[in-house]
Amino acid sequence: MTIEERISNCTRCRLYKNRTNAVPGEGTYDGEIVFIGEGPGKKEDELGRPFVGRAGELLDELLFVAGLKREDVFITNVVKCRPPDNRDPRKDEKKACLPYLRKQLEMIKPRVICTLGNHATSHFLGSGGISKKHGKVFEKDGLTIVPLYHPAAALYNPNLKEVMEEDFKFIKNKILT
Ligand code: URA
Repeated sequence: MTIEERISNCTRCRLYKNRTNAVPGEGTYDGEIVFIGEGPGKKEDELGRPFVGRAGELLDELLFVAGLKREDVFITNVVKCRPPDNRDPRKDEKKACLPYLRKQLEMIKPRVICTLGNHATSHFLGSGGISKKHGKVFEKDGLTIVPLYHPAAALYNPNLKEVMEEDFKFIKNKILT
C-alpha cells in the first residue's frame, strides 16, 4: 500500500469517523521544500487535497512570490483528517498521525521544512512564539525549519500579508538560491 492509501484507510484516531476524505498531501517527492499546515479544513476534506480553500489561494500567491509552484514543493498537514468544526487537533490525534508525516519527510528528504502557523511550528520547535520565530531558520534534529505565519492568519489580519510576502521572498533569495 502506498502512504497515501495508508492515510486514506487510517483509523488510528477518532478523526476518521467524520472525514469525507483524508488529505495525505500533494506535490513532488523530489523537491527541496515541504510546507506543513495544521489540518484539513472543510474544502480540503471535500476534495481530499491540502490548502484548496481561501487559505490555499493565499498560499498559492505566496508560493508565486517565492518563485515556486505547487508542483515544485510538497504540501501537507500535521493531521491528515479534518477536526470537526475546524477545532484544533488534539494531542493524541497529532501523536497518532505523526508517523505519516515522519514517513513523508523520510521519503522527500527536504532541504527545508516550512511550518505554517503555531501548530505545525510547535510540533518541531516547541510551543508558541510564531510572531518571534517566523521567517527565521532553525536547525533541529538534522532538519532545517523555517516557521511561517499560517496563511489563514492573514485572512483575518491583512497586515500580516506583507510580512508573509517578505518571509516568502526570504525563502526565495536566501534559502533556495
Ligand atoms: N489549513 C491548514 O492548516 N491546512 C489545510 O490543508 C488547509 C487549511
